Amino acid sequence: MKNFQYYTPTKVVFGKDTEEQTGALVKEQGGSKVLLHYGSGSVKRSGLKDRVCASLEKAGIAYVELGGVVPNPRLSLVRQGIELCRKEGVDFILAVGGGSAIDSAKAIAYGVKYDGDVWDFYLKKSFPEAAAPVGVVLTLAATGSEMSNSSVITNEEGWLKRGCNSDLGRPRFAVMNPELTYTLPEYQTMSGCVDIMMHTLERWFSHEKDTELTDYLAESVLKTVMHAAKVLLKDPENYDARAEVMWAGSLSHNGLTGCGRDGDWACHQLEHELSGMFDVAHGAGLSAVWGSWARYVCQSDVDRFAKLAVDVLNVPYDYANPERTALEGIEAMEAFFRSIHMPVSLTELGVQVSDEQIEELAYKCSFQETRTIGGVRALGRKDMEEIYRMAR
Ligand code: NZQ
Ligand code: ZN
Repeated sequence: MKNFQYYTPTKVVFGKDTEEQTGALVKEQGGSKVLLHYGSGSVKRSGLKDRVCASLEKAGIAYVELGGVVPNPRLSLVRQGIELCRKEGVDFILAVGGGSAIDSAKAIAYGVKYDGDVWDFYLKKSFPEAAAPVGVVLTLAATGSEMSNSSVITNEEGWLKRGCNSDLGRPRFAVMNPELTYTLPEYQTMSGCVDIMMHTLERWFSHEKDTELTDYLAESVLKTVMHAAKVLLKDPENYDARAEVMWAGSLSHNGLTGCGRDGDWACHQLEHELSGMFDVAHGAGLSAVWGSWARYVCQSDVDRFAKLAVDVLNVPYDYANPERTALEGIEAMEAFFRSIHMPVSLTELGVQVSDEQIEELAYKCSFQETRTIGGVRALGRKDMEEIYRMAR
């Protein structure tokens, strides 16, 4: 097991009606004027925004609003948010929504404390040294952003999607009421389940093998989400399944399933270019590329792929041919994605990619050929092109 730090400062307030505690939680964190940041309307339609506002008012917290966050959240709105916070003297940013609203809130939180351009952090030209406090009322179980140190923003100029990781951005609290996810369309629910699985899998694929407890935790997260996703296909208002998925989402990306090892984030890097260029749902983009990535790198760690097949996907171990076990595991994972109506190719994702676009995706993903990605196998620009091609 490698040395590690495990830091999860987010206070989790989980369960029915917990959004009513939002105002008190902001107060507890010393907030007095809030930026209420949300998406394109779901929180208005569901009545959640009104309930959160009532809770803020009850606690004597003033607030201003900035809605309009879109999936793959945009830099231009982040800049607007920073200006608004400065003008209004906001001292606490409250995201009400999914990963996009949370990531946008984190970016605003970095930006208000910085004299330069907030995009510097996403280009790694600079690193946050301060951030306004962020709180979350979660409406979509997927990204784990409610406990993670990361924020992913898309710059409309050039459609570059880039991340910034800093512990300063970890939310102070996360209100998680599984009932708030009942209104999600099936596609978003399933896309979220894939994302949660991927955060777990991308930590699970590691050259560091002596991490037994971390392996068991990761496998439990995977099995729990796979089971609950099937339940939710038939019964979207099943509270217990919604609750399992929501909690799994947080645990999949707060560091727990990566303790003691490095991960392999190749699928995430490949997908971020896809959703940056084609504006697809992140989880669906991940399931569209995972199988191609897995087949491309499988030879580099047959044992690990075979372990996934046996421990998580119930594939019998072929002692004479472990590689066959590994490949059957990849097929079983793709069959699972299909069974929850998630795409396993770019065409199924609804994206027709030309040869030129594949070159552009790989060029961007390799940061103009200045980096490789992946842990199981280091992937350069040509490898990335090949994986995108296989995924078509
Ligand atoms: O905008 P509204 O109207 O709220 O609609 C949203 C949006 O259209 C809708 N929605 C959310 N909650 C709902 C709901 N509709 C009905 N009922 C509800 N309860 O769902 C749509 C998608 O929302 P979004 O927030 O974009 O989805 P998600 O949570 O999957 O976030 C995706 C973004 O997070 C990034 C992704 O790359 C993508 O940009 N990620 C962030 C991470 C992090 N910060 O740690 C890690 C991830 O790997 C990921 O990269
Ligand atoms: Zn993700």
